[in-house]
Amino acid sequence: MSSLFATYIRSNLDFVRGEGAYLFTRDNESYLDFFSGIGVNIFGYNDEDLVSTLKSAANRVWHISNLYHIEEQEKLAKNLCLNSFAESVFFNNSGAEAVECAIKTARRFFYDRGEKNKTNIICFKGAFHGRTLGTIAAGGNKNYLEGFGEPLSGFRHIEGGNIELVEQIIDENIAAILIEPIQGEGGVRVFTDEFLRELREISRKNNILLILDEVQCGFGRTGKLFAHQWADIEPDIMAVAKGIGSGFPLGACLAKKNIAKSMVPGTHGSTYGGNPLACAIGNKVLEKILAPDFLPHVRKSSTYLHQQLQQLMQKFPHLILEVRGRGLMAGLKITPPVNEFVQSLRKNRLLTVGAGENVLRLLPPLIISENHIDEAINIMDKIFAKFAKRAK
Ligand SMILES: Cc1ncc(COP(=O)(O)O)c(C=O)c1O
Repeated sequence: MSSLFATYIRSNLDFVRGEGAYLFTRDNESYLDFFSGIGVNIFGYNDEDLVSTLKSAANRVWHISNLYHIEEQEKLAKNLCLNSFAESVFFNNSGAEAVECAIKTARRFFYDRGEKNKTNIICFKGAFHGRTLGTIAAGGNKNYLEGFGEPLSGFRHIEGGNIELVEQIIDENIAAILIEPIQGEGGVRVFTDEFLRELREISRKNNILLILDEVQCGFGRTGKLFAHQWADIEPDIMAVAKGIGSGFPLGACLAKKNIAKSMVPGTHGSTYGGNPLACAIGNKVLEKILAPDFLPHVRKSSTYLHQQLQQLMQKFPHLILEVRGRGLMAGLKITPPVNEFVQSLRKNRLLTVGAGENVLRLLPPLIISENHIDEAINIMDKIFAKFAKRAK
């Protein structure tokens, strides 16, 4: 009997080591990883550079708190700013914390300017921003809010993709629009570049901040460092996590300087956020993503993956209704129950994860090759064929 909270339905597979895109059980059975610990391990397992970075960081100071200068943290903040819209960074340990910081920063910005009623945030149905009390309110999913008292107020939920709905809901109390450029948990739902540009435009016109949650779709996942760069826009605030630490807990809230400057001593904090170990890894991750060949490799693999998924859909039109996603954040809207499908794939040594709207979500490590994609497609093909037989 486990001594853990029963918040997860866990498989009893027990992975003890990993190598590249494969995980190995205690009995040395190998599994192809197409979920990366839910979009985290972008360099797969046992990456030589990350392992040696962590080992050498472990020989220095592990933790000192944010009451002291942390060289690695300063460096990571500077490099994130050099490579994004941002001018200022707050580090924390997870995606939910990064979004919390983003929400607080937006509210505090208007508070500081004397616009104290400007606290409301427009959010989108199907969104997922984390599991803290603030982020479940922002997500608005009733199942996640149930049983936890009055939700934090100030979040207005509308259907995404339609700028007119956004226009209709804007009033003088709206402080920000919060959106995942691609909804991950919600079902790998991609918002168009045009919609993101419209949001940028409408927020600018109405004195509203644009907050992007790139916790899942950021850090190279779509073939650019950040997903919003496809739309050629700049947000005011952005939350990131997952890939930035590639398995070491690290998140960050990035913002323009004039917005971040409201977050003065006492407004926010984190004991661990941006600690030397996490930031040493973050720096190495960023350096590796920005190496000249890396993102082109992700884009090439993405094109190949999407071509293969399209072919699979043509082969099983009754089982696959839609291929979704961008880059190596892909989804198949399927007709068989997705949890059962994920389990069947797992039995055949392919690890994936479900998402909303009965979507099979594929989040492979960004280092995958065409051979890995072929292997995954063959396994999926086999399982779809099984389900097709069953449907007859
Ligand atoms: C878009 C998005 N935001 C926030 C979160 C929350 O991140 P964490 O679980 O690290 O708190 C997630 C996690 O899946 C996510 O996908």
